[in-house]
Order: sequence, then structure tokens, then C-alpha cells
Amino acid sequence: MGRIDTLLATMTIEEKIGQLNMVASTLAITGPGQLGDVREGIRTGRIGSLLNHWGADEVHAVQRLAVEESRLGVPLLLGLDVIHGHRTIFPVPLAEACLFAPDLWEKTARAAAEEATQDGVALTFAPMLDVARDPRWGRIVEGPGEDSWVASQMASAKTLGFQGQDLAAADSLAATAKHFCAYGAVTAGREYASVDVSERTLREVYLPPFSAAVAAGTAAVMPAFIDLAGAPMTANAPLLQGWLRRELGFEGVLISDYNAVAELMNHGVAADAVEAAALALKAGVDIDMTSDCYVRGLPEALKRGLVTMAEIDVSVRRVLDLKDRLGLFDDPYRRGSAWPHGVRDAERRELAREVGRRAIVLLTHRAAILPLPPETRRIALIGPLAAASREMLGPWASAGRAQDAVSILEGLKAALPQCRIDHATGVDIGGQDTEGISAAVDLCGGAEVVVLCLGEAAAMSGEASSRADLGLPGRQRELADAIFDLGKPVVVLLSSGRPLTLPWLFERADAVLATWFLGGEAGHAVADVLTGRFNPTGRLPLSWPRLVGQVPIFYRQRPTGRPTKAGEHYSSSYLDVPATPQFAFGHGLSYSRFTLLDFKCDPSSAKAGEFVEVSVTVANDSEVDGEATLFLFVHDLVASVARPVLELKGVRKIVLKARERGRATWGLSTGDLSFLGPNLNRVLEPGRFEIHVGQSADPAGLLTEVIELTP
Ligand code: GLC
Repeated sequence: MGRIDTLLATMTIEEKIGQLNMVASTLAITGPGQLGDVREGIRTGRIGSLLNHWGADEVHAVQRLAVEESRLGVPLLLGLDVIHGHRTIFPVPLAEACLFAPDLWEKTARAAAEEATQDGVALTFAPMLDVARDPRWGRIVEGPGEDSWVASQMASAKTLGFQGQDLAAADSLAATAKHFCAYGAVTAGREYASVDVSERTLREVYLPPFSAAVAAGTAAVMPAFIDLAGAPMTANAPLLQGWLRRELGFEGVLISDYNAVAELMNHGVAADAVEAAALALKAGVDIDMTSDCYVRGLPEALKRGLVTMAEIDVSVRRVLDLKDRLGLFDDPYRRGSAWPHGVRDAERRELAREVGRRAIVLLTHRAAILPLPPETRRIALIGPLAAASREMLGPWASAGRAQDAVSILEGLKAALPQCRIDHATGVDIGGQDTEGISAAVDLCGGAEVVVLCLGEAAAMSGEASSRADLGLPGRQRELADAIFDLGKPVVVLLSSGRPLTLPWLFERADAVLATWFLGGEAGHAVADVLTGRFNPTGRLPLSWPRLVGQVPIFYRQRPTGRPTKAGEHYSSSYLDVPATPQFAFGHGLSYSRFTLLDFKCDPSSAKAGEFVEVSVTVANDSEVDGEATLFLFVHDLVASVARPVLELKGVRKIVLKARERGRATWGLSTGDLSFLGPNLNRVLEPGRFEIHVGQSADPAGLLTEVIELTP
């Protein structure tokens, strides 16, 4: 009999339920509720896993309680939100998505896994795979943006990065694909609100990233807080047991979100903790995170016949199996002992800087004000985000520390030692006091250029941080207007967890860069771009709205019976603003200038199972070496259901020296032209398809060919 069978045969019901019980430690707070002493619960086998507990010594201390003092010595599973770095903090995921670079996404996850496992952590509650098309929702910052194809690429890269090749290795971190599913579609962008999406949208947009994560071998999945069409995900048996486990074959562990099992009572689908525990367990949720419902409710649920011991054993077995695959039985102290802190720190910081500068998106750039000329001798650095090193870490900074983060001020000073940099905040990020504006304006007097650092506090995005107004918080606009009124060259840096609706600012600034929250190396990354040491390559993973009234806004729209057409009254438009975004999905300027030509699809017709080679020449029409990003979209012109006007099927990056030309190619399979037919089964229908290539989803910049799929 194997180890797990023996344990299952030996465990009391309390010990079995203990393996399904995850308790929050006291090192970090990531949800509501009380935090108690965990030691006794570990000794008695009532606690099988902890979250928010890290540090080699701290982890080994609680691990010893479980392994050496409990009756059966089952090791603990320790989980933490290692979302974009552990001690070395990388750009927030939305910023990292601007790279469109799965290789770097995997590298940062690998680096985070090295650091987190050094601190004894064995599982991360990441990657967050929530496709989001509504920037009112604060958690857009944590995810891959608006596109399901990008989210699927992110899912694979992050899962592989965290978990490595061998889950039992000392530096392997079990991944948790979250939040399953469609959490990004909360009503009105309001946090935790209900979600209503069509079955089609669910299967075309929100499920594919989780398919990718399962295909990549994710160890765990976390259901979302929300109810999907009235069915709370924590008790959604059709999607958890039906689609995820049976249709997809997921055999890993389902970990509830924080207190979510108990919140089934708030959803109004459970009368008490007993019913809540039974619903979640029968839906396939193995671990109850912090609600204590499994401990309080499952024994009574057994008595009432709401669950069976066999159902409990199935979940216990999955949890023990994960612990076994992580090597915790073989060596519970492996993580936190492998090698000392500090090894490869410098490499990880350099990686954070590299990813940071690649995450920056040059949104507007007038009059070639950038890069800053090397002879620049006086800069006014103004705004509440200029010296805000803590904000650069973003809302989920794990073990990251503000004192380790490089502010924009520090980065610029390091990059331009010969330059006088006068700094003033002018206003607070969200405050109402405007007293400091005049002093800030005065400080700009002798400056050759003003760098204006505006945006959000890190806590204004992330969980429980939706915003109904996507403008600048506080009195930042007054500060900006006063600076613009000086008539000096102004470069605006926007630090935020979401796109902000600022048409007036894009109108007045000479250049605007989306610098998001770039992590520990933020200041150096920003300076690398402003000085031209790095030619910006970031591209938007979302459609940037002009006004909040446009959201949800995304490029993958269906045409409607009256497609959007500027100037056409009876078209899908608004009276007061263009229906198009401020900046299209994929938008991002460069110091180079790229043009596309000689676009070909060969052959121009294909049968099922064949390939079409799509190719295009990219010309760098500038004197500056740079990197172009190209997007391949398809549009099924006539099908059995209305198809989106653009669907992303591939991305290519091409580095070109000044005046150089290069050719980008894709092998488009006819499988890429399949879709979910009227009854949601995958179909491939003959007919004509537009194939588009462009530097963004902006229709004005797309080259188009039509191919024929023949029977
Ligand atoms: C939070 C988040 C989830 C996180 C968990 C543990 O409420 O919803 O993403 O992993 O609790 O911190």
C-alpha cells in the first residue's frame, strides 16, 4: 500500500478535514477576518496548509510542528501570493503583458520561484489569468489585459516558469491558475459583483487561458469569488467538476479563494456553514482557504448525508498527492535550505530592469522631444509619483520592500549625474490640497524640460480597488494644467494600475509614457527609456478608453448589423465621442519609425489541415535601431455565427537597425480559422477570411489580404 493510501487508511476524520483546511498566518493580511495562533492547530493535524507565511526559519518552525509533533507527521503546504516577484519585484502583470514576450514572462516567474522557495514557500496563488476589458475593475492590474490569446500565452509561460521541470525540486513553486473564471467581467467593473456572460463568450474568451494552464501542468486552480449567472464559482459543479475536471482532465487541487466557502452564505446558496462546506466539496473544491467551514461543517454534513466519506477522501488524496509531488514528504525542509539568499540577486535585479524598460509604452510623442538630449543640464521633476518608491511595487508586492525600490527621481539622478534635477511633488496622489502647486511651478522656471509624474497610488488598483472615475485622483489635474500653462516641453509619466481616461492630457503633453508600476527597478527602467539608452518597445495589451463611458471596450468586437463608422449616424457609435479607443490594442510608439509593406498570403486558398504562409516586410525608416511588434489577426467574413472583426492569432517581434528591412512570417494553420459553431462545438467552415497584419489593432494601420478556405 502506498504512502497516501496508508495515510488515508490511518487518518481520523478530523485529520482528513485538517488536510483540507488552509489558515492565514500573521505575516501578511490579504483578506477579511481574524487571524489566530496556528501552532496548536498544526500539532493536532487540524491545519494542513498555511498562507502568508514565509522566511526559511519561520517556515521550518511551523513545518517542524507538523512533521515532528503531529500524530502522523504530514508536512504543511505553504502558499503565498507571489504575483510578480517575491523579494525582487518585477513590473505588475498588466505592465509585463506589454512585452508580448512569453520567454521573459517565464523568466520572471522562474526568478520569483527561486526567491520564494528560498523563503520556504511551496505554492504561489498565481498566475492570475483574468481577461479584463473594464479598467474600472481594480484587478485589471494583476492580469494579462483584454485578450484571451495573450492570456493563454501568459498562462503557459508563467506555469512553466513557476513550476520548472520537476515539481519536487527545491526551487519549484506550485502554480495556481486563478481566478476561475470570468471574474474580469464583473458588472459595472465593481469588485466582487455578479458576472453575466454568454456561454459563447465564456468558452471563447474566459476559459481558454485555463485550458492553457492545465495543459502546462498547473498544480492548482482557484475559483473566483463571483457568481456566474447566479452560480457562485466556489460551488459551480458544472464548471469545476464538469468542464475543468472531466472535460479538461484537470487532476490537481482546487483551492478556494479567501473565505469564499463561507461567503456562499452571503451569495444566498447556503443556509449555514454545513451547507456551504457540502456545496463546495461536492463542486470539487479541495482546500477551504481561511473560512473554517470545512472544519466546522463537514462532520455535520457527513451526519446529514450531504457529503460522503468517499468524497472527502477524494479531496484529501488530491492534497496529499500534491504534497508528495512537491517532495514535501521526502524532505519537508528542502525549500528554504537549498541555497542562501543573495545568490543571483544581481541577475534578478537586472532582469527586473530589463523587463521594466520593455514594459513602458510610449503613448504619444510630439516634436521628437525624446530621448532627452545628453546635453540636458536642467530638468524639473514634478508630481506625486516622482519619488514614490513604495508605489512602484504595485498592489501585490509579496516580500518586496519599499526601501529596495528605485524611484523615478533616483533613476534619473543615477542616469544623468551631470544634470540638475529639481524635484517637487506639487500635490499628493489623492489629496485635495493644492498649496504646493505654485512652488512646483516656480521650480520649473529654469528647466529645459519638465518630467511630470502623475497617476495612481498602488492601493488604487488591485483587489477591492475598483474606480468609477478613471481620471487622475486628487488635484493632479490642476497641477498638470499649471505646468502645461508654462509653455515648456513636458513629458508625462503615468504610473497606474489601469488605463486612465485623460484626453485633455494627451492633447497638451509633448509626450506621454505609460509606466504602470514597474517594480523594484522602476527608476532605472524609466531613465533608460527617457535617455534613449533603451528604445521603447512596450505595446498595449488592452484598448485604452477615451472616457469611462466607453467601457467595456475591446478590439475583438462582433461587427453588428450597423458596424461602427465615423460620421455615419446610423452606425454603432456615440453622439459625443468616437467609438474607437484613445489608443488601440497593441499601440506603442518607438524612437524608430516602422512601415509595413509587401504583405503576402501564400497560397491564397487552402483546404482543412493545410497551412498558409503569411509574410510581411518591415522597414525601419529611421536612424535609430529598434524593435517592431507585429500582430496577425483574422476575420471570418461569412460564417454560421457572427464572428469578431479581428481575432489575434500571432505576434512577431523583429529587431531592425537604422534603415534596415526584415521579413516577418507566420505559418497560419486552417485550425486557426476554426471557431465554436452555433451549438458551441468547434467547426471549420469553408469561405473567405480576411488576414490582417499591423502594428496594433487600429484598422487604419492594418494590411489586409483575403484567403479562401476550400472544402
Ligand atoms: C485574495 C485574492 C486571491 C489571493 C487570496 C490569498 O482575496 O482574491 O487572489 O490569492 O486572497 O491572498
